[in-house]
Order: sequence, then structure tokens, then C-alpha cells
Amino acid sequence: MRDNFGRVIDYLRLSVTDRCNLRCRYCMPEQGIEHFPHRQILTYEELLRVAAGAAAIGVRKIRVTGGEPLVRKGLVDFIARLAALPQRPEITLTTNGLLLAQYAGPLKEAGLSRVNVSLDTLRAERFEQLTRRTGFAQVMAGLAAAEQVGLTPLKINMVPIAGVNADEVGDFARLTLERPWEIRFIEFMPVSDNLDYSPESRFPADDIIAAFSHIAPVEAVPRHGPGGVARLFRFVGAPGRLGVIPAVSHHFCHECNRLRVTSDGRVRPCLFSDDELDLRALLRSGADDEQLRDFLRRAITAKPEKHHIGAEDFRPGARPMQGIGG
Ligand code: GTP
Ligand code: 5AD
Ligand code: SF4
Repeated sequence: MRDNFGRVIDYLRLSVTDRCNLRCRYCMPEQGIEHFPHRQILTYEELLRVAAGAAAIGVRKIRVTGGEPLVRKGLVDFIARLAALPQRPEITLTTNGLLLAQYAGPLKEAGLSRVNVSLDTLRAERFEQLTRRTGFAQVMAGLAAAEQVGLTPLKINMVPIAGVNADEVGDFARLTLERPWEIRFIEFMPVSDNLDYSPESRFPADDIIAAFSHIAPVEAVPRHGPGGVARLFRFVGAPGRLGVIPAVSHHFCHECNRLRVTSDGRVRPCLFSDDELDLRALLRSGADDEQLRDFLRRAITAKPEKHHIGAEDFRPGARPMQGIGG
């Protein structure tokens, strides 16, 4: 289905939990956040109804997100049910990789097509500083497992922050010389009030590109169709690819193809706007499938044209990133 600005909305991001087993500095305060009470979280039955409704109005790809989706019990089963929807949407997952070694095989069998793994450093010690938890070796084992079972092409999301880990852009980029991975550098975004976002921490897309361009000759890679958020490059002859997600500096809102559902059952038409629609109330009021589809159509119509980061009156939304699912 098209929104009011002519964009085809065919991608649903479903957050299944706001819980996480890491405490990344840019995402959460040390003590974590107050979690939604259990009854406010959509059940798998409810999430499945939403997914079925979305697929019926044209969603072709469903990405399961969190918090950390793999901490929710029963996820593999849920993925299997998503994959079995009559329209056979593509099912993907964004994870921090901590539990991936354990779940990669079952997820693949359940019908998951691929995973994107968030990893912000290649140094074990720094991993602990950034995430306030141990687990670097587990994430590396998770990447190997995902590759082995064919949850590919494997994408790694890295958020370079000036003065923190931006010095590793080159090391991450070099991985693509040997492995068929897509390393995606995401501009640090002001998502909510409770993270250390400051002008000094910005490491814009142009700096990212400069940081890997001296390693070897780089060429641009054309994208397949609209909707992808990354500008793609590769080192000439390398098996892997380099993506830059310039979420702040060159926003790609005109190509936005997505709708987000938070774990507590709100539709969030834009990552950066708190103008949410209460889907949970609708689901729990006994609405039938037609009413559900109408609601989702209305949510698509409510998508704003673009975000206003950088504008003088811009304020980060109240909902933290792990409550949105990226
Ligand atoms: P692919 O299907 O592999 O293209 O995944 P994806 O990039 O849609 O999903 P992923 O969860 O890996 O998202 C990567 C990051 O891109 C997100 O965490 C955000 O930081 C950023 N991003 C995703 N969607 C949007 C969006 O609509 N607007 C902005 N500004 N950034 C987004
Ligand atoms: N800016 C940019 N990316 C972020 N992520 C989480 N918080 C931010 C932020 N403030 C990324 C994570 C993960 C994805 C879902 O969102 O690294 O890869
Ligand atoms: Fe880190 Fe993602 Fe967990 Fe936030 S939700 S603490 S970014 S792993």
C-alpha cells in the first residue's frame, strides 16, 4: 500500500520485547530501563494477527526486533508461524548476537531468512565498556554459527561514535576483504533523552567513508530497488560490502518503506516521532480482521513526510531505542 507521499509501505518492524541482555551506553542507562509490565506486551497471538493483517495489505518483509528479540521465550516458534503466513513474507531478525550461537540452527529451520547483528567493537575489552556486559566471544561464535547455517547475507550494524569507537571503522571495513559480510556503519542518532548524544559524539557519513577509503580502492555498489537504508560500497574485488546509513546527515525519508510496531502494541509511523497509534487497545477491544487492516492502513496514512533532526525545534522522542526496535 502507498502512503500520502507515494511511498510503498511493504516492510514491518515488529518489536517483540523491550528487554535486553546488554546495556549499550548509547541505548540504555546502566540500571536499564523500567520494563513494560507483562500484560502490556503483545502476546505472540496478537503479534501474529498484526503480521497477518500487515501481510494482507501488502507487507512483504517482516523484521523481528527488540530490545533483544532472542531473550523472549518461544521466539523460534513465533518465527516459524510468521514464515508460514499465506503470503510467505520474508522474515528477518536484528539481534545483538549474544544468543545466536545457540539459536542460529533452530531459527534457520523455522524459516528465518537472515540476521543483522549489532556489533560496535572488535575488541573484547572495549565490548565490555560499551555494553557494560561480557559476551564478545559469544557474539563472535554467534556470527560464525549464523554463517554456517546460512542465515546470510550476514549484515553487521556498527554505530561509530567519535572518541569512543570511531577509530575502529577501518578494522571493521577490513573484514569485508576476507568475508562476504555487509558491514553497515550507522550514524549515531538522537533517539531519546536518556542517551549520551552530543554534537561532539557525531561521526558523520562523510567521515565514515573517509575512514575506510584509504585502505583500498572503493567502488559504489548499485542498490536493488528502493527501501534500503544504506549507501553501499565495496573494496574492488572484495567479497564483502560496506554500507553507510546516513540516518541524520542525508536522511532517506523519501524512500521510507516501513511501519513499526512496538512491543507494547503501538504503531509508530516514524522512528523519530512519538505520534503513535494504540494498536493494543484495538486488538483487545475485540476488533475483527477487517478493522485491524483498516487501522494499519490509517497508520500508513499517518506517516510523516520526513524527520526533523537538525531543525531548531527538534526534540528526541520520549521512547528509548530499545522500546522501538531500531
Ligand atoms: P535490511 O533489511 O537488512 O536492509 O535491514 P534494515 O537496515 O532495515 O534493519 P536493521 O534493523 O539492521 O536497521 C539498521 C538501522 O538502520 C536501524 O537500527 C536504524 O538505526 C537505521 N534505520 C532503520 N530504519 C530507519 C528509518 O526508518 N529511519 C532512520 N533514520 N533510520 C533507520
Ligand atoms: N543511533 C544509531 N543506531 C542506534 N542503534 C541503537 N541506538 C542507536 C542510535 N542512537 C542501533 C543498534 C542496532 C540497531 C537496531 O539500532 O546498533 O544495530
Ligand atoms: Fe545494545 Fe541493542 Fe540492547 Fe540497546 S537494545 S542495549 S543497542 S543490544
